[in-house]
Amino acid sequence: MKKDLLKLLDLSKEDMEAILNKADQLKYEQKHGIPQKYLEGKTLAMIFEKNSTRTRVSFETGMYQLGGHALFLSGKESQIGRGEPVEDTARVLSRYCDGIMIRTFAQSEVEELAKYASIPVINGLTDFCHPCQVLADLLTIREHKAVLEGLKLCYIGDGNNMANSLIAGGLKMGMEVAAACPEGYDPDPQVLAFAQSDPAFHFSLCRAPQDAAAGADVVFTDVWASMGQEEEKAKRAKAFQGYCVDASLMALTHPGCMVQHCLPAHRGEEISAQVFEDHAHEIFDEAENRLHAQKAVMCLLMSQ
Ligand code: CP
Ligand code: NVA
Repeated sequence: MKKDLLKLLDLSKEDMEAILNKADQLKYEQKHGIPQKYLEGKTLAMIFEKNSTRTRVSFETGMYQLGGHALFLSGKESQIGRGEPVEDTARVLSRYCDGIMIRTFAQSEVEELAKYASIPVINGLTDFCHPCQVLADLLTIREHKAVLEGLKLCYIGDGNNMANSLIAGGLKMGMEVAAACPEGYDPDPQVLAFAQSDPAFHFSLCRAPQDAAAGADVVFTDVWASMGQEEEKAKRAKAFQGYCVDASLMALTHPGCMVQHCLPAHRGEEISAQVFEDHAHEIFDEAENRLHAQKAVMCLLMSQ
């Protein structure tokens, strides 16, 4: 049976640990010039219905480093943009390729693609979640802090795809998770239900960023208007006043607290320029780890 990566809610702690451990191995090999052609002769189709810098470059470079090939399909320029049904695209690509990465709007489109494809499907971001990003984030935190279990992860801002994946991933890995979102911008109800489903989970959702940041070991934030929400930019800028990760918020966190941002960042909105630059080494480690985490995902899903 082929396996997919559609959302972190589908993965166990052991699945995520296996990905992080494989990523450690692949990162070590790459840094030491050890050959890693584990996907020789394999092709990954990459469907993009939204913009990307990191996801596209890290998947394409990752496939090259693993001895395979990646091909870019833009929604607009392929038949997908002209309305070819997703179940047909899935069955066609399954005849040519060994895996599909898709970035799109609706999570249901990714789930539908996976249902009809006979090859692994990897979610490269939907409105609902961003699992590849959060695997890279967990890898980065583990590198910096040695462990994940027991750390307090704080998320400040929009209850969007990043918030949803961080809550699912953080709780599954045994982290305490606190999110602060303005009213009307809460994480997805499915994720909130998951967070409440196990008495062992330490989860809180609050309105005041200060409450979430208190004693945090890692602070996350993300843009206030995600891709597809450009028209809401002004309305959101108002709703998110007071939700900037700045020095006064960081003063409430645990000493040595990390800052993570999936990027692109808007300095002076969700994060101050000072906090961004003070933590730039961690943020760009996080960006680099997209490469290693996704290579791990591709190896684990596509090497059979
Ligand atoms: N963080 C992230 O997914 O970046 P891109 O939108 O550039 O791929
Ligand atoms: N929440 C952002 C993440 C970008 C990587 C968006 O969906 O646009």
